Amino acid sequence: MKGPDRALYDAAGTRRDPIPTPTFPFFPARYSAFALCVAGLAASIAAVVLLPLAWLAWIALALFAALTGVGLHDLRQERHAILRNYPVIGHLRFLLEYIRPEMRQYFIESDSEAAPFSRAQRSLVYQRAKGEPDNRPFGTQLNVTLSGYEWINHSMQPTTLADHDFRIVIGGTPNPATPSGFTCTQPYSASVFNISAMSFGALSANAVLALNKGAKMGGFAHDTGEGSISQHHRVHGGDLIWEIGSGYFGCRNDDGSFSDDRFVVNARDPQVKMIEIKLSQGAKPGHGGVLPGPKVTAEISAARGVPVGIDCISPSSHSAFSTPVEMMHFVAKLRELSGGKPTGFKLCIGHPWEWFAIVKAMLATGITPDFIVVDGAEGGTGAAPVEFIDHVGAPLQEGLLLVHNTLVGVGLRSRVKIGCAGKVITAFDLARMMALGADWCNAGRGFMMALGCIQAQSCHTGHCPTGVTTQDPVRQQALVVPDKADRVRNFHRSTLHALQELVQAAGLDHPQQITAHHIVRRISDTEVRLLSNLIMQVRPGALLGPLDHQHTVFRMYWPLADAQSFQPMAQDLPEPVDHALAA
Ligand SMILES: Cc1cc2nc3c(=O)[nH]c(=O)nc-3n(C[C@H](O)[C@H](O)[C@H](O)COP(=O)(O)O)c2cc1C
Repeated sequence: MKGPDRALYDAAGTRRDPIPTPTFPFFPARYSAFALCVAGLAASIAAVVLLPLAWLAWIALALFAALTGVGLHDLRQERHAILRNYPVIGHLRFLLEYIRPEMRQYFIESDSEAAPFSRAQRSLVYQRAKGEPDNRPFGTQLNVTLSGYEWINHSMQPTTLADHDFRIVIGGTPNPATPSGFTCTQPYSASVFNISAMSFGALSANAVLALNKGAKMGGFAHDTGEGSISQHHRVHGGDLIWEIGSGYFGCRNDDGSFSDDRFVVNARDPQVKMIEIKLSQGAKPGHGGVLPGPKVTAEISAARGVPVGIDCISPSSHSAFSTPVEMMHFVAKLRELSGGKPTGFKLCIGHPWEWFAIVKAMLATGITPDFIVVDGAEGGTGAAPVEFIDHVGAPLQEGLLLVHNTLVGVGLRSRVKIGCAGKVITAFDLARMMALGADWCNAGRGFMMALGCIQAQSCHTGHCPTGVTTQDPVRQQALVVPDKADRVRNFHRSTLHALQELVQAAGLDHPQQITAHHIVRRISDTEVRLLSNLIMQVRPGALLGPLDHQHTVFRMYWPLADAQSFQPMAQDLPEPVDHALAA
């Protein structure tokens, strides 16, 4: 036969095999469940006829009639092959698939398996949030002989600190290069642990209320996320970091461009302590976002300044600037319009030459942000394409090292505070990030867990089982604001208390003194190294001179960076020598 046998195909091109000659057994076993239903239906019809007053017979009739109906539908439908081959019983597969995550989480998953947070991490958050004792008996459950195991070295002379309310001052560093009107005149004394950006819209109203109330009680900051400041953020008066994304929500003109006047109204609110321009977030850098029209409720419309019921779009880049120099002027403009509040930006590191171009723009203009928040690829989101979640953006360690070392290398580190986010849950996580160069840490999902999140990972469906990430008014009633606000405060307090104990044990006075010399990492069965020997460490001012002895990332890409453009200067990038951002 040269071409396909046309008799085997219908008009739509579907293959129609001839019905095979029946062989024993005549009736395929896979139809057994359906056959039992049909038999049950026949038997219950007979029972109803013979015993019309027996209610059990009627119930059986209804049940078997329904199951037979399901079976017939399964055989006729064309969407699910499994149901066509296994009518009725095939539904078990869908049921088991549906409850698989819960079954895995409750019965199968080990304590240390991270998906994305391990049971051990979640349990610790719950214990701390509930104010339960977080001590463990017997000893570590970690395998200290495995590569990658890390610890902080203790001192022979531990310190004793008065309390755990560790703070840093953001903004207000004198800048001789900047005209006085552009400097930060309202520096913010921030906790070293704050609530990361998560919008009202991604979070429920009750979640926002509880987070903000917890922040108020605990004296730490609550980042609004790019959805801007909703009425729920203002009820309890907790300190706000106002995030400005590319949609300029809360400060936009009707055409979506940035509005100075609308920005001033929100930015000058005393509750707003800092302004954060969002360039990207680790879970979906380089990707905009759309809140579909039906989800744009009156409350969301009021917070964002967008029309009700119309798709609300966050473009993938900003329209207020298109070059690094313009971006620095935008930073300065927002700082001035806000009345001198600390102004900075959040990003996940992508092309190194783009980040270097931003730093060159700082040098060229003399304008520095008061802070930079580095988000890692391991970061969370309400919803993002799986390829972005899994394979776009630099992980936190690499991004943080690059940002910290570049600023050290150009002599700007003392003027710019660095925050970071990416699976920071425990006090050791905080200490480690500070060792890598952070001044403070934010947590998003950690605080969600303090609110009761069980990692069901249904944030994008609107069916969050604990009322944290849903706009369903009934579901979110499950989240009782006063109780969960206490938990938010407790989680923060207990984590910082644990940090205090680590800092004391290391013989230090403040977590900012923790460096890469204090942390040790196992790299093989028989070898360990101080982190300081493993990570890149640029000397102050080193990038302003010859780059010969610098890390490859600086040697190759720093010369290509242009303060006037996010594009690299050379058309052809040099042959890569070493792809790693940090060795
Ligand atoms: C539900 C949810 C919503 C988020 N919304 C935003 C947002 O609006 N803006 C932003 O910059 N980051 C957003 N993020 C990212 C977090 O702020 C944070 O950077 C990231 O999750 C890493 O921190 P984590 O590992 O502690 O969660 C969101 C994360 C989650 C889980």
